Amino acid sequence: ANLHFVTLLGSLRSASLNAAIARSLPQLAPEGISISALGSIADFPHYSQDVQEKGFPPAVLNMAEQIQAADGVVIVTPEYNYSIPGVLKNAIDWLSRVTPQPFAKKPVAIQTASPGQIGGARAQYHLRQSLVFLDAFVLNKPEAMIGLATSKIDPQTLTLTDEPTREFLTRQISALADLARTLQR
Ligand code: FNR
Repeated sequence: ANLHFVTLLGSLRSASLNAAIARSLPQLAPEGISISALGSIADFPHYSQDVQEKGFPPAVLNMAEQIQAADGVVIVTPEYNYSIPGVLKNAIDWLSRVTPQPFAKKPVAIQTASPGQIGGARAQYHLRQSLVFLDAFVLNKPEAMIGLATSKIDPQTLTLTDEPTREFLTRQISALADLARTLQR
């Protein structure tokens, strides 16, 4: 059967390298897999239990529903100060309070891109830790840490032009599909 994945973006920057990666994924997806972008997490207020008790923001409920309906999630995010950006953590905190909790038993792949050498590797392990509590099934391998990303993304079109990276990300999406199909059996 065909699978549908959604991308969750951890950067709010208009010229974001990670947004460029996320935007490239629909074309890179192997046969039988469609990928679409979730809405922006910029619309999420700062998490507070007081705000939650007055009712979940529509942007949060909407995203939770889309994640719930998807066969898998690809989180594409920068590394900030050796961890995940606060805006992404805020989004995960909001989504984690929705019932049914949308990440429970959900196949998830992580991609990080950075101008630096090691491509946001440290953020990946912090993200994985939160996803353990959410009971997601995080893809182990291959890990997609895209270093020296400014040399792999066209600054004019903001698309991923580096062919080895494109092939590598296709392999990771394919591995996420294998995981999703295994879990659906
Ligand atoms: C960064 N950057 C960064 N890069 C990295 O590889 N490791 C890090 O720990 C950090 N820390 C960090 C903190 C803050 C507050 C900022 C603003 C930036 C650099 C970061 O990778 C770079 O700005 C990317 O371009 C951000 O990703 P987007 O927005 O282009 O997707």
